[in-house]
Amino acid sequence: MSLVSQDGNLKVSFTLNGRATTVQTTSTRVVSDLLRDDMNMKGTRVSCGRTVCGACSVLVDGFPRAACSTFTFELEGRDVQTIEGVEGSDGSLDPVQTAFARKSAFQCGFCTSGMILLAKSLLAAHPDPDRETIIAWISSNICRCTGYELIIEAVQDAAKAIKAEAGA
Ligand code: FES
Ligand code: FES
Repeated sequence: MSLVSQDGNLKVSFTLNGRATTVQTTSTRVVSDLLRDDMNMKGTRVSCGRTVCGACSVLVDGFPRAACSTFTFELEGRDVQTIEGVEGSDGSLDPVQTAFARKSAFQCGFCTSGMILLAKSLLAAHPDPDRETIIAWISSNICRCTGYELIIEAVQDAAKAIKAEAGA
């Protein structure tokens, strides 16, 4: 549970990319500002800042949340994953990252952190999604560059790679 510290800030504890984390912050601090400005984790992108574009998506307990519109205190006790936590501890790329690179599923890259996290969330819930399910799942994140086709192909590619890895 969040505690109010002597300076009036909130003390919020959660797991961030696998590590127990406690921050002291104001009651109005949103997660994207916490990550980018207080923790110097710039991988979470902010575009609209008002829950419209999805660029700032992070995973909270495995499901996407708009970091620009989530208060830090809402993270209390939760498991949070950002793009910085996707690669392996040895620096190896996640299969979703590899698939995005293989398919060149980005141009400016502004939506890419969110797209990769959305894809990870989707494949954890639906390991073998059909095209319509992929489209529905990534539709919360607006890509202004790619026309989506390469992103859809990358998610399909990642699904195959993860399945092959599991069967290996
Ligand atoms: S920046 Fe958060 S939804 Fe657009
Ligand atoms: S690659 Fe530019 S917004 Fe998606």
